[in-house]
Amino acid sequence: MPQTSARIIDGKHMATEIEAEVRQEVEALAAVGKTPPCLVVVLVGEDPASEVYVRNKGKACERVGFGSRTIRMPAETTESELLAEVDRLNNDPDVHGILVQLPLPKGMDERKVIEAISPAKDVDGFHPYNAGRLMQGNPTLVPATPSGVMEMLKRSGIEVKGAEVAIVGRSTIVGRPLAALMTNADATVTLCHSRTKNLPEVLRRADIVVAAVGKAKFVTADMVRPGATVIDVGINRLETGKLAGDVAFDEVAEKAGWITPVPGGVGPMTIALLLKNTLQAYQALAR
Ligand code: GUN
Repeated sequence: MPQTSARIIDGKHMATEIEAEVRQEVEALAAVGKTPPCLVVVLVGEDPASEVYVRNKGKACERVGFGSRTIRMPAETTESELLAEVDRLNNDPDVHGILVQLPLPKGMDERKVIEAISPAKDVDGFHPYNAGRLMQGNPTLVPATPSGVMEMLKRSGIEVKGAEVAIVGRSTIVGRPLAALMTNADATVTLCHSRTKNLPEVLRRADIVVAAVGKAKFVTADMVRPGATVIDVGINRLETGKLAGDVAFDEVAEKAGWITPVPGGVGPMTIALLLKNTLQAYQALAR
Protein backbone atom coordinates (compact mmCIF):
# COMPACT_ATOMS: atom_id res chain seq x y z
CA MET A 1 0.00 0.00 0.00
CA PRO A 2 1.55 3.38 -0.98
CA GLN A 3 1.99 6.30 1.41
CA THR A 4 -1.38 8.06 1.70
CA SER A 5 -2.96 10.82 3.68
CA ALA A 6 -6.53 9.62 3.20
CA ARG A 7 -7.96 7.07 5.59
CA ILE A 8 -8.62 3.75 3.86
CA ILE A 9 -12.12 2.31 4.01
CA ASP A 10 -11.38 -1.39 4.40
CA GLY A 11 -14.21 -3.12 2.53
CA LYS A 12 -12.68 -6.54 2.98
CA HIS A 13 -12.69 -6.21 6.75
CA MET A 14 -16.23 -4.80 6.83
CA ALA A 15 -17.44 -7.62 4.56
CA THR A 16 -15.96 -10.16 6.98
CA GLU A 17 -17.92 -8.52 9.82
CA ILE A 18 -21.16 -8.63 7.83
CA GLU A 19 -20.58 -12.28 6.92
CA ALA A 20 -20.08 -13.07 10.61
CA GLU A 21 -23.42 -11.38 11.36
CA VAL A 22 -25.16 -13.42 8.64
CA ARG A 23 -23.50 -16.64 9.83
CA GLN A 24 -24.81 -16.02 13.34
CA GLU A 25 -28.35 -15.76 11.97
CA VAL A 26 -27.91 -19.03 10.07
CA GLU A 27 -26.66 -20.71 13.25
CA ALA A 28 -29.70 -19.40 15.13
CA LEU A 29 -31.93 -20.95 12.44
CA ALA A 30 -30.08 -24.27 12.67
CA ALA A 31 -30.52 -24.25 16.45
CA VAL A 32 -34.31 -24.38 15.98
CA GLY A 33 -34.10 -27.02 13.26
CA LYS A 34 -34.65 -24.74 10.26
CA THR A 35 -32.91 -25.30 6.93
CA PRO A 36 -30.67 -22.41 5.88
CA PRO A 37 -31.42 -19.91 3.09
CA CYS A 38 -30.61 -21.13 -0.42
CA LEU A 39 -29.29 -18.96 -3.26
CA VAL A 40 -29.39 -20.17 -6.86
CA VAL A 41 -27.15 -18.49 -9.42
CA VAL A 42 -27.93 -18.99 -13.09
CA LEU A 43 -24.99 -18.62 -15.46
CA VAL A 44 -25.67 -18.71 -19.19
CA GLY A 45 -22.69 -19.07 -21.52
CA GLU A 46 -19.00 -18.75 -20.69
CA ASP A 47 -18.08 -15.16 -19.87
CA PRO A 48 -14.73 -15.44 -18.01
CA ALA A 49 -15.40 -12.51 -15.65
CA SER A 50 -18.84 -13.94 -14.82
CA GLU A 51 -17.24 -17.32 -14.06
CA VAL A 52 -15.09 -15.65 -11.39
CA TYR A 53 -18.01 -13.67 -9.89
CA VAL A 54 -20.24 -16.74 -9.78
CA ARG A 55 -17.55 -18.85 -8.13
CA ASN A 56 -17.00 -16.14 -5.50
CA LYS A 57 -20.73 -15.98 -4.75
CA GLY A 58 -20.84 -19.77 -4.24
CA LYS A 59 -17.83 -19.68 -1.92
CA ALA A 60 -19.40 -16.86 0.11
CA CYS A 61 -22.60 -18.90 0.55
CA GLU A 62 -20.50 -21.77 1.87
CA ARG A 63 -18.71 -19.50 4.37
CA VAL A 64 -21.96 -18.37 6.00
CA GLY A 65 -23.69 -21.77 5.86
CA PHE A 66 -26.20 -21.02 3.10
CA GLY A 67 -27.28 -23.63 0.62
CA SER A 68 -26.27 -22.67 -2.91
CA ARG A 69 -26.47 -24.02 -6.40
CA THR A 70 -25.14 -22.81 -9.73
CA ILE A 71 -27.19 -23.69 -12.78
CA ARG A 72 -24.99 -23.59 -15.86
CA MET A 73 -26.71 -23.27 -19.19
CA PRO A 74 -24.89 -23.33 -22.55
CA ALA A 75 -24.48 -20.15 -24.62
CA GLU A 76 -26.95 -21.57 -27.17
CA THR A 77 -29.77 -21.66 -24.59
CA THR A 78 -32.89 -19.99 -25.92
CA GLU A 79 -34.64 -17.21 -24.06
CA SER A 80 -37.72 -19.38 -23.51
CA GLU A 81 -35.58 -22.16 -22.00
CA LEU A 82 -34.07 -19.64 -19.59
CA LEU A 83 -37.50 -18.22 -18.74
CA ALA A 84 -38.74 -21.76 -18.03
CA GLU A 85 -35.81 -22.32 -15.65
CA VAL A 86 -36.54 -19.03 -13.85
CA ASP A 87 -40.18 -20.09 -13.54
CA ARG A 88 -39.16 -23.42 -11.98
CA LEU A 89 -36.98 -21.59 -9.45
CA ASN A 90 -39.77 -19.08 -8.68
CA ASN A 91 -42.00 -22.02 -7.76
CA ASP A 92 -39.41 -24.05 -5.85
CA PRO A 93 -40.09 -23.52 -2.12
CA ASP A 94 -36.52 -24.59 -1.26
CA VAL A 95 -35.07 -21.66 -3.24
CA HIS A 96 -35.06 -18.23 -1.55
CA GLY A 97 -32.82 -16.17 -3.81
CA ILE A 98 -32.45 -16.20 -7.60
CA LEU A 99 -29.62 -14.40 -9.37
CA VAL A 100 -29.24 -14.51 -13.14
CA GLN A 101 -25.68 -13.46 -13.82
CA LEU A 102 -25.34 -10.61 -16.32
CA PRO A 103 -24.43 -10.01 -19.06
CA LEU A 104 -26.56 -12.60 -20.86
CA PRO A 105 -25.44 -13.88 -24.28
CA LYS A 106 -26.30 -11.65 -27.24
CA GLY A 107 -29.85 -11.98 -28.48
CA MET A 108 -31.37 -12.46 -25.05
CA ASP A 109 -33.60 -9.77 -23.65
CA GLU A 110 -32.12 -9.09 -20.20
CA ARG A 111 -35.06 -6.93 -19.21
CA LYS A 112 -37.55 -9.70 -19.95
CA VAL A 113 -35.51 -12.23 -17.97
CA ILE A 114 -35.16 -9.92 -14.95
CA GLU A 115 -38.88 -9.18 -15.01
CA ALA A 116 -39.59 -12.92 -14.97
CA ILE A 117 -37.86 -13.37 -11.59
CA SER A 118 -40.25 -13.32 -8.66
CA PRO A 119 -39.67 -9.93 -6.93
CA ALA A 120 -39.65 -11.77 -3.58
CA LYS A 121 -36.62 -13.85 -4.71
CA ASP A 122 -34.90 -11.09 -6.69
CA VAL A 123 -31.80 -10.77 -4.49
CA ASP A 124 -30.13 -8.52 -7.10
CA GLY A 125 -32.94 -5.98 -6.58
CA PHE A 126 -33.11 -5.42 -10.34
CA HIS A 127 -36.81 -6.22 -10.83
CA PRO A 128 -38.89 -3.08 -11.57
CA TYR A 129 -41.00 -3.79 -8.47
CA ASN A 130 -37.95 -3.63 -6.20
CA ALA A 131 -36.44 -0.71 -8.17
CA GLY A 132 -39.74 1.19 -7.87
CA ARG A 133 -39.99 0.55 -4.13
CA LEU A 134 -36.47 1.95 -3.70
CA MET A 135 -37.30 5.00 -5.84
CA GLN A 136 -40.35 5.69 -3.69
CA GLY A 137 -38.29 5.58 -0.49
CA ASN A 138 -39.83 2.33 0.73
CA PRO A 139 -37.21 -0.24 -0.29
CA THR A 140 -37.58 -4.03 -0.32
CA LEU A 141 -34.63 -5.84 -1.93
CA VAL A 142 -31.93 -3.29 -2.84
CA PRO A 143 -29.07 -3.91 -5.33
CA ALA A 144 -26.02 -5.17 -3.45
CA THR A 145 -23.32 -2.84 -4.77
CA PRO A 146 -25.01 0.48 -3.91
CA SER A 147 -26.16 -1.04 -0.61
CA GLY A 148 -22.54 -1.96 0.08
CA VAL A 149 -21.47 1.64 -0.59
CA MET A 150 -24.02 2.97 1.93
CA GLU A 151 -22.90 0.39 4.49
CA MET A 152 -19.23 1.40 4.08
CA LEU A 153 -20.08 5.04 4.73
CA LYS A 154 -22.19 4.12 7.75
CA ARG A 155 -19.55 1.85 9.28
CA SER A 156 -16.89 4.57 8.74
CA GLY A 157 -19.03 7.20 10.48
CA ILE A 158 -19.18 9.39 7.35
CA GLU A 159 -22.26 11.59 7.40
CA VAL A 160 -24.54 11.31 4.38
CA LYS A 161 -27.36 13.50 5.67
CA GLY A 162 -27.04 16.94 4.08
CA ALA A 163 -23.90 15.93 2.16
CA GLU A 164 -23.26 16.93 -1.45
CA VAL A 165 -22.84 13.64 -3.30
CA ALA A 166 -21.65 13.31 -6.90
CA ILE A 167 -22.04 9.91 -8.56
CA VAL A 168 -20.32 9.27 -11.89
CA GLY A 169 -22.23 6.68 -13.95
CA ARG A 170 -26.00 6.21 -14.28
CA SER A 171 -26.22 2.41 -14.64
CA THR A 172 -29.26 0.53 -13.36
CA ILE A 173 -26.94 -1.70 -11.28
CA VAL A 174 -25.07 1.07 -9.43
CA GLY A 175 -25.55 4.76 -10.26
CA ARG A 176 -29.33 5.02 -10.36
CA PRO A 177 -30.11 2.90 -7.29
CA LEU A 178 -27.29 4.61 -5.37
CA ALA A 179 -28.77 8.03 -6.23
CA ALA A 180 -32.08 6.81 -4.76
CA LEU A 181 -30.42 5.43 -1.60
CA MET A 182 -28.50 8.68 -1.10
CA THR A 183 -31.66 10.73 -1.65
CA ASN A 184 -33.53 8.56 0.86
CA ALA A 185 -30.66 9.22 3.30
CA ASP A 186 -31.07 13.02 2.90
CA ALA A 187 -28.04 13.71 0.71
CA THR A 188 -28.11 16.22 -2.16
CA VAL A 189 -27.29 14.12 -5.20
CA THR A 190 -25.84 14.93 -8.61
CA LEU A 191 -25.94 11.92 -10.95
CA CYS A 192 -23.25 12.51 -13.58
CA HIS A 193 -22.74 10.72 -16.88
CA SER A 194 -20.99 10.97 -20.24
CA ARG A 195 -22.92 14.11 -21.23
CA THR A 196 -22.34 16.01 -17.99
CA LYS A 197 -20.85 19.46 -18.60
CA ASN A 198 -17.84 20.53 -16.53
CA LEU A 199 -17.59 17.21 -14.72
CA PRO A 200 -14.41 18.15 -12.78
CA GLU A 201 -16.16 21.24 -11.46
CA VAL A 202 -19.22 19.24 -10.37
CA LEU A 203 -17.04 16.64 -8.63
CA ARG A 204 -14.96 19.30 -6.84
CA ARG A 205 -18.11 20.55 -5.07
CA ALA A 206 -18.87 17.12 -3.62
CA ASP A 207 -18.32 15.93 -0.06
CA ILE A 208 -18.66 12.36 -1.36
CA VAL A 209 -17.59 11.27 -4.86
CA VAL A 210 -18.63 7.85 -6.15
CA ALA A 211 -16.98 6.56 -9.33
CA ALA A 212 -18.94 3.89 -11.20
CA VAL A 213 -18.03 4.43 -14.85
CA GLY A 214 -15.94 1.39 -15.74
CA LYS A 215 -12.96 3.43 -16.94
CA ALA A 216 -9.61 2.87 -15.26
CA LYS A 217 -8.24 5.86 -13.30
CA PHE A 218 -11.00 8.16 -14.63
CA VAL A 219 -11.27 10.28 -11.46
CA THR A 220 -8.05 12.22 -10.92
CA ALA A 221 -6.80 14.39 -8.05
CA ASP A 222 -7.79 17.69 -9.74
CA MET A 223 -11.46 16.54 -9.60
CA VAL A 224 -11.50 15.99 -5.84
CA ARG A 225 -11.92 18.56 -3.06
CA PRO A 226 -9.34 18.22 -0.26
CA GLY A 227 -10.79 16.04 2.49
CA ALA A 228 -13.59 14.55 0.37
CA THR A 229 -14.66 10.92 0.61
CA VAL A 230 -13.96 8.95 -2.58
CA ILE A 231 -15.69 5.63 -3.24
CA ASP A 232 -14.41 3.54 -6.14
CA VAL A 233 -16.86 1.03 -7.59
CA GLY A 234 -14.77 0.26 -10.69
CA ILE A 235 -13.03 -3.02 -11.39
CA ASN A 236 -10.96 -2.68 -14.56
CA ARG A 237 -8.43 -5.16 -15.86
CA LEU A 238 -5.35 -3.31 -17.14
CA GLU A 239 -3.25 -4.60 -20.05
CA THR A 240 -0.64 -5.60 -17.48
CA GLY A 241 -3.22 -7.95 -15.95
CA LYS A 242 -3.47 -5.83 -12.79
CA LEU A 243 -6.82 -4.64 -11.44
CA ALA A 244 -7.49 -0.90 -11.29
CA GLY A 245 -10.48 1.05 -10.08
CA ASP A 246 -12.13 4.07 -11.71
CA VAL A 247 -10.07 6.32 -9.42
CA ALA A 248 -6.39 7.19 -9.85
CA PHE A 249 -5.76 5.88 -6.35
CA ASP A 250 -2.22 7.11 -5.59
CA GLU A 251 -2.77 10.78 -6.46
CA VAL A 252 -6.35 10.97 -5.13
CA ALA A 253 -5.36 9.34 -1.84
CA GLU A 254 -2.98 12.25 -1.17
CA LYS A 255 -5.88 14.67 -1.30
CA ALA A 256 -9.00 12.82 -0.14
CA GLY A 257 -10.12 12.41 3.47
CA TRP A 258 -11.32 8.84 2.95
CA ILE A 259 -10.85 6.46 0.04
CA THR A 260 -11.72 2.87 -0.89
CA PRO A 261 -9.02 0.65 -2.42
CA VAL A 262 -9.39 -1.68 -5.43
CA PRO A 263 -9.29 -4.57 -4.80
CA GLY A 264 -10.46 -4.85 -1.20
CA GLY A 265 -13.01 -2.03 -1.24
CA VAL A 266 -16.51 -2.13 -2.69
CA GLY A 267 -16.09 -5.60 -4.29
CA PRO A 268 -16.17 -7.70 -1.10
CA MET A 269 -19.05 -5.56 0.20
CA THR A 270 -21.16 -6.43 -2.84
CA ILE A 271 -20.89 -10.13 -2.02
CA ALA A 272 -21.61 -9.53 1.67
CA LEU A 273 -24.74 -7.51 0.87
CA LEU A 274 -25.91 -10.19 -1.57
CA LEU A 275 -25.78 -12.64 1.33
CA LYS A 276 -27.75 -10.19 3.47
CA ASN A 277 -30.33 -9.85 0.70
CA THR A 278 -30.67 -13.63 0.49
CA LEU A 279 -31.27 -13.81 4.24
CA GLN A 280 -33.81 -10.99 3.95
CA ALA A 281 -35.66 -12.78 1.11
CA TYR A 282 -35.68 -15.99 3.15
CA GLN A 283 -37.12 -14.21 6.20
CA ALA A 284 -39.79 -12.44 4.14
CA LEU A 285 -40.77 -15.69 2.37
CA ALA A 286 -41.07 -17.46 5.74
CA ARG A 287 -43.64 -14.94 6.97
N1 GUN B 1 -22.89 -8.73 -13.47
C1 GUN B 1 -22.10 -7.77 -12.94
N2 GUN B 1 -22.57 -7.36 -11.76
C2 GUN B 1 -23.69 -8.08 -11.53
C3 GUN B 1 -24.62 -8.12 -10.45
O1 GUN B 1 -24.53 -7.39 -9.46
N3 GUN B 1 -25.62 -9.02 -10.58
C4 GUN B 1 -25.76 -9.82 -11.66
N4 GUN B 1 -26.80 -10.64 -11.70
N5 GUN B 1 -24.92 -9.80 -12.67
C5 GUN B 1 -23.89 -8.95 -12.60
